[in-house]
Amino acid sequence: MSNTTQKTPPNHMREILSQMVLSRSLSIAAELGIADLVANQPKSTLQLSQELKVNENALYRLVRVLAAQGIFELDKNKMVSNSEISDFLMEDMEGSQRNFARMMGSPWMWKIFNDLEYSIATGDSASKKAIGYENFFEYFKQESPKDGKIFSQSMSSFSYSFDQPLVNAYDFSTCKQVTDVGGAEGRLLKIIKNQYPSIKPVLFELPHAIEQAKQNDTEGILNYEEGDFFNSIAASDCYLIKYILHNWNDENCIKILQNCRKSIAPNGRVLIMDMLIKEDEPQVFEKSLDMVMLVLLQSKERTKEEFEELLNKAGFKLNAVYPTASPLSIIEGIPI
Ligand SMILES: C[S@@+](CC[C@H](N)C(=O)[O-])C[C@H]1O[C@@H](n2cnc3c(N)ncnc32)[C@H](O)[C@@H]1O
Repeated sequence: MSNTTQKTPPNHMREILSQMVLSRSLSIAAELGIADLVANQPKSTLQLSQELKVNENALYRLVRVLAAQGIFELDKNKMVSNSEISDFLMEDMEGSQRNFARMMGSPWMWKIFNDLEYSIATGDSASKKAIGYENFFEYFKQESPKDGKIFSQSMSSFSYSFDQPLVNAYDFSTCKQVTDVGGAEGRLLKIIKNQYPSIKPVLFELPHAIEQAKQNDTEGILNYEEGDFFNSIAASDCYLIKYILHNWNDENCIKILQNCRKSIAPNGRVLIMDMLIKEDEPQVFEKSLDMVMLVLLQSKERTKEEFEELLNKAGFKLNAVYPTASPLSIIEGIPI
């Protein structure tokens, strides 16, 4: 729709409806790796189509619709170059969104979204109905390791870009030990250790994740505790729970928090790091991701009040909320 089209409500609605085209086209552009191919010099759509072995006219139209949104630049001679947005489709760019774009456009994701009606009718995840697996990690393992790899790369690049802003937003100086519950490769802990050298950083993870983290910890910075956060969690005076609770329903979140409560030092704290839904703000991204959580996992993004309720049910009180220069906030709970 042209920028000169009057933004009447029906026009606005048509623009919103056509965003499914943009989202999927952006994913295909990410999959094809166009941003990397034009990283050093502009290329014509003809040259790109030959390198990628795709149809030239279709590729031109794909780039054209994206360029209309500021993703790529396209000139009259059909020369394609990166824009400040498509720069972040390059694989090795700091803050790259390439794998997130690939994941959002992947066929398994669209299959599940095709059954959104089911989730709305029942309040359940549509994963089992759509791809035959309740747990899509199981689906990756059994059916599509390639999608599993894109998923974990996407989650890492997405989540890792929040680490430094999180550490900047909180004063860890009174913590003796910081335990990252489900901390993946321990990247957040390494940043904390770098800024607070006296802290003992402990990664609490499932065995396969610990094995992976050890391989990446060549300098031996981290300490490791293998375990399942639904069973028990080793003692600490500061627990980080980053980007975990939004994957689980309330009952499971309370179990994880209760296991922290059982082992926490009397003056300890639990730091939930997650997005906060604000009912009175538009938050299109946050509220869209909440729908992804519903349809994929029957879980959700939460408001401050919802986190407070989880904390209370697990024996904590909400002490403070720290905004950060990332989409995540830090919700601090202390034992009651
Ligand atoms: C979405 S990732 C978040 C990783 C990390 N906290 C971050 O922000 O990047 C979820 C993590 O939880 C871990 N995890 C899942 N189930 C677990 C369990 N039952 N016990 C311990 N860790 C678990 C996974 O191995 C994975 O690394």
